[in-house]
Amino acid sequence: MQKKDELYRGKAKTVFLTDSDDKLVLFFRNDTSAFDGEKIEQLERKGEVNNKFNHYIMQKLEAAGIQTQVEELLSDAECLVKKLDMIPVECVVRNIAAGSMVKRLGVEEGLVLSPPTFEFFLKNDALHDPMVNDYHITAFGWATQDQIEEMKRLTFAVNNVLKPLFEEGGMLLVDYKLEFGLDADGNIVLGDEFTPDGCRLWDKETRKKLDKDRFRQGLGSVVESYIEVAKRIGLEL
Ligand code: TMP
Ligand code: ASP
Repeated sequence: MQKKDELYRGKAKTVFLTDSDDKLVLFFRNDTSAFDGEKIEQLERKGEVNNKFNHYIMQKLEAAGIQTQVEELLSDAECLVKKLDMIPVECVVRNIAAGSMVKRLGVEEGLVLSPPTFEFFLKNDALHDPMVNDYHITAFGWATQDQIEEMKRLTFAVNNVLKPLFEEGGMLLVDYKLEFGLDADGNIVLGDEFTPDGCRLWDKETRKKLDKDRFRQGLGSVVESYIEVAKRIGLEL
């Protein structure tokens, strides 16, 4: 497999074409972004840590029967993935109220949500990722109703795998964001990444934040916390 031209540069990852039409390389950079790119810093080892973390989680999801984009770890900061036609929405499941839900609805941070909630956001930094619903998604042709149902089903299936995994490591999976795409056969496949950049994880006892909120809120020890999370779920980095 030969890495070719850059296809797309996101806020934290760069996507490269390869000599194979249906494969891409994800390069995890050290760039760390918050508030839709308003705050960006380079954090040493973050690319490597997130690349290996993502690969580890995606393997767990594959083992549970959830199809992912990931093919193989190529190097410290690179991963070979299947090419997907990405659906431009973010799927967010929340087990506990935090972040934008707290601001939007005035509920208390830490409130346990029963059942967990599901929200769609449009992936658009200029518009600050506005919340959208099924009707917007079908009306604008971003996905069909069947594809919407499949994204919801898979996003909750991920909860069933990862909530217990983090709980065994003494952590609460507060919320997380997933992105899906279509493979060459039209199947909905989990793409992008699952790392502490795109979820909230709290220590079960102390409620210490172990995810990107440390960066958003200037709490320090960002990458160190990601490494601790990895260790607690059986990944030594
Ligand atoms: P929120 O509370 O800001 O809506 O975020 C909910 C979860 O989704 C949280 O774990 C962070 C993640 N997320 C991203 O990874 N990228 C985004 O652009 C947004 C809006 C949320
Ligand atoms: N992922 C978005 C950004 O990079 C939002 C966030 O995580 O705060 O700016």
